[in-house]
Amino acid sequence: MTIRNPGKLIQNEMTSSVFSRRNFMKAVGAGSFLAVMTEHDFAWSQTAIDGSGEDLSIPSLPSNAVLLNANESPLGPSRAARNAIAEIAAKGGRYDVDGEAAQLAQLFAKQNGLKPEYVSVYAGSSEPLHFAGLAFCSPAHGYVSADPTFEAGSCAARLVDAPVKMVRLRDDYSHDVKAMASADPKAGLVYVCNPNNPTGTVTSYEDIAWLLENKPKGSVILVDEAYIHLSDARSMIDKVVADKDVIVLRSFSKIYGMAGIRCGLAIARPDLLAKLAAYGINAMPITSSAAGRVSLLDENLVPRRKKFFADIRQNLFDWLKANQYGYVPSSTNCCMIDTKRPGQEIVQALQEKSIYIGRVWPAMPTYVRVSIGTQGEMDLFKTAFHQAMQAKPKSLV
Ligand SMILES: Cc1ncc(COP(=O)(O)O)c(C=O)c1O
Repeated sequence: MTIRNPGKLIQNEMTSSVFSRRNFMKAVGAGSFLAVMTEHDFAWSQTAIDGSGEDLSIPSLPSNAVLLNANESPLGPSRAARNAIAEIAAKGGRYDVDGEAAQLAQLFAKQNGLKPEYVSVYAGSSEPLHFAGLAFCSPAHGYVSADPTFEAGSCAARLVDAPVKMVRLRDDYSHDVKAMASADPKAGLVYVCNPNNPTGTVTSYEDIAWLLENKPKGSVILVDEAYIHLSDARSMIDKVVADKDVIVLRSFSKIYGMAGIRCGLAIARPDLLAKLAAYGINAMPITSSAAGRVSLLDENLVPRRKKFFADIRQNLFDWLKANQYGYVPSSTNCCMIDTKRPGQEIVQALQEKSIYIGRVWPAMPTYVRVSIGTQGEMDLFKTAFHQAMQAKPKSLV
């Protein structure tokens, strides 16, 4: 298995608050930073770290590897999506002559009360997230996010030398929208991940609506709804319909199981979408547009898979509670678990048993994020985690 590895520079420099032009030039020289960062990149960059500061390679995976590190789906695309991919493959000798991407945008727009020009189709939502950081941030207009949260947007903002302000989540792990609104009066982009990665926790519709009304003048609110179908969170798409300064992102990588197929949407006023498009818009693979469209047409898919993950997540929570392990009550396909020691120690111990979990955020250094896999995979995880936790911590935080 070949894994694209942007290397440990990402952990050591991109996610640290110290980011200098020298580092940037060094990174560009190393050819690693201009990439659009995905969860896959973040997950594997941390897994690869062996502490030597030198080795940028990732070991090839054992055949029994259990992958709980990148919030992927063990289910893959739905049956209808697989059939659509297989059927459309024969047309792959031509570009998108049947307008598959446009059909996907039109269907999503219709289902959500939007005009089709309010929806842009991308090969995953990482791309519009990256472009938003580039388009709306600058040295004069900063980036504001929660802490901890998904880092891809802040990486893009740092590329254009924008100041990045990270605001601790509240005690209930929701976004502290009041503190975020005042964190940088000149902010260009305020990022709200709802539900949040890595905590899996929800920020209320009312709070995000308040942020939208009280945001720094001239800023745009970016609401990342990659995980929304797994939770009961309410979407902010109605604020797009109302022509507010908001961009909503959707991904087909989570509940629709299409991380490797690559499909995502940016939903916003056409003038905001045009700012993203200025950074590039590639032709979509017809396979992923077709798979995305039939996934949206399957009314039972989301509730069925939501229940699948909720049941396994609840089973994990019950086990954690019974064994007195602390965790953050997530409503998505991942969960932060407290290891009471530097989390990387447990990541490493499990990796030795071919169980790959990820990752550790500087704001919660004793917690590891574990993706929800199948029940069988989670049972293997529980046994290995329990064993690893019996060992004396090598260091205490
Ligand atoms: C919060 C969040 N946003 C966006 C993405 C990007 O997903 P993709 O580019 O696969 O659509 C991820 C992936 O894990 C994510 O966790």
